[in-house]
Amino acid sequence: MTAVTDPQDVYDGAHPVRTLRRMFRGQGGRLTVATAAFAVKHSPIWIIPLLTANVIDVVVEHQPLHELWVSAVLMAVLIAQNLPLHQLYVRMLSRSVRTVETNLRMALAQRLQELSIGYHRRVSAGVLQAKIVRDVENVVESSRQAFDSGMAAITTLTGAIVITAIKVPEFLPVYAVAVPAAAALVVSMRRRMTARNAAFRAEVENMSARVSEMTHLIPITRAHALERDELDRMGATLVGVRDAGIRLDVTNGWFGALSWILMQLLSVACLIGAAWVAWTGRFGMTAGDVTMLSSYFVALTGSVTAIMSLTPIITKGLESVRSMSEVLTEPDVERNAGKAVVDDVHGDVQFHDVTFHYADAPDEVAVEALDLHVRAGETVALVGPSGSGKSTVLNMVIGFLAPTSGRILLDGRDMAGLDLRTYRRFLAVVPQESLLFEGSVRDNVTYGSHDLSDDAVLEALRGANALGFVEQMGGLDAVIGERGARLSGGQRQRLAIARALVRDPRVLVLDEATSALDTASERLVQEALARLMAGRTTFVVAHRLSTIRGADRIAVMRDGRLVEIGSHAELVSADGAYAELERLSSGATNA
Ligand SMILES: Nc1ncnc2c1ncn2[C@@H]1O[C@H](COP(=O)(O)OP(=O)(O)OP(=O)(O)O)[C@@H](O)[C@H]1O
Ligand SMILES: [Mg+2]
Repeated sequence: MTAVTDPQDVYDGAHPVRTLRRMFRGQGGRLTVATAAFAVKHSPIWIIPLLTANVIDVVVEHQPLHELWVSAVLMAVLIAQNLPLHQLYVRMLSRSVRTVETNLRMALAQRLQELSIGYHRRVSAGVLQAKIVRDVENVVESSRQAFDSGMAAITTLTGAIVITAIKVPEFLPVYAVAVPAAAALVVSMRRRMTARNAAFRAEVENMSARVSEMTHLIPITRAHALERDELDRMGATLVGVRDAGIRLDVTNGWFGALSWILMQLLSVACLIGAAWVAWTGRFGMTAGDVTMLSSYFVALTGSVTAIMSLTPIITKGLESVRSMSEVLTEPDVERNAGKAVVDDVHGDVQFHDVTFHYADAPDEVAVEALDLHVRAGETVALVGPSGSGKSTVLNMVIGFLAPTSGRILLDGRDMAGLDLRTYRRFLAVVPQESLLFEGSVRDNVTYGSHDLSDDAVLEALRGANALGFVEQMGGLDAVIGERGARLSGGQRQRLAIARALVRDPRVLVLDEATSALDTASERLVQEALARLMAGRTTFVVAHRLSTIRGADRIAVMRDGRLVEIGSHAELVSADGAYAELERLSSGATNA
């Protein structure tokens, strides 16, 4: 598989035709063979009428009978060759379009892995899915249809021109009129068709986003008996797709009717012209010639109409090229290429006057002038009210967000100059919601680290207090169901902890789950967390009192600022913001 190196060089939404040509670069050989195979397999359409004329002449002019047998054999051969050549044609065309299809999907998947986390937060997974599934299919199907019908029409047209040139060259100029007339119609309608396709695509993407949102929300929708409201919202989206679809169909319909009328008019004009020529006795033309000519005109206008009818299909394909290019040329990617490779991490993390603004809220500071030096092996618990910037700090530690100003030093090196992918080999993240996938316990724990022994996995599960329930489920090969559906909240958390343990990270980023567990499983999770944090630089957004008290230092945040830092005892005796938070939360627990 040839993965595309830099999509930016190949895909350009502003120039979909050029992009399409580049996509098919490398398929030239196959397409040439396909074209040749098509021309041969299609040849009976020309040659059989000539042989038919021969057969009629054998009868009418009483030629020797063996001429008849010769014609019969020739026709049989001509017809029989269709089978192997059609197969060859289909194989070649299919190979090239399917290869392009695969490469496109691979390029899209690759790009999605490069795009920043910010991009993925902004753009719905449903929209991205629509691009990978629907748009790629559109491009491939349009290309295939354009090639298929285009080839048929072009061969027919060529034949019509050749025969006219031989039989009545005086009528050749008719072709010179038909082509520019068709082109003028295409040009005049193209803009509107493009706009309609773009509008339709936007509605379809909107629908995909809604479908994925709806499926995500189903548990809460049903729990709150809001099915009707969800369906109403879905209905509104579907009506949008319908209306845009109707507008697109009507525009395509106009185009279809106008092109048919144009070609029929031309054909009638030719017939009348030929009849007039015959009537006036020019070029020695007979009534029979007029009939013959008129059938050629029908072939001519038929094939021009066929080529024109590809316009809606091609316009749709080009819109899909544009849609894919949106992703493939999106500049919001994480740039790692050429940056310093990290091959060892100690775990010393220093924030130097770090300020962060989210791009979509430039007036609001999420984190302001943060100075924080976390030594290797230290655990820092971030506490503070909602919206105070704790998650933003965690995301900067992971490298998902880069400081708007200031610097973050990892073991004394500015993170901006590091290849983050190599740094993250020494990092583990335990998110609030454990992200599990359909697969075995082993797959979920080792996720991506294929060379781990079963012993290492079992050790991690033991450390995470997960061995007990995993053994009950049937061991490492037990399947946990999509998104861990068959597990309880506490079990899911412990699997996520095992996943972090098995990586033996130097830096740990933890967003403690807020949902309370029953005391027994709470204790199991706490023990597992304590084991996980021991000896590693840990940034934890803490909700559990035990985590907060057990941390080496507690950083209290408010409105993006670090207002207090110190150990539990220090902060309590300082009687500042932390002491106040403590009073509030213990008050809440007592209440
Ligand atoms: N993607 C985003 N785009 C714009 N603003 C954001 C984004 N994420 C967070 N913010 C804003 O940045 C500020 C800090 O948010 P952050 O998520 O870091 O808070 P937090 O301390 O983690 O809160 P919580 O305890 O509720 O998780 C908030 O004012 C929030 O509205
Ligand atoms: Mg948060």
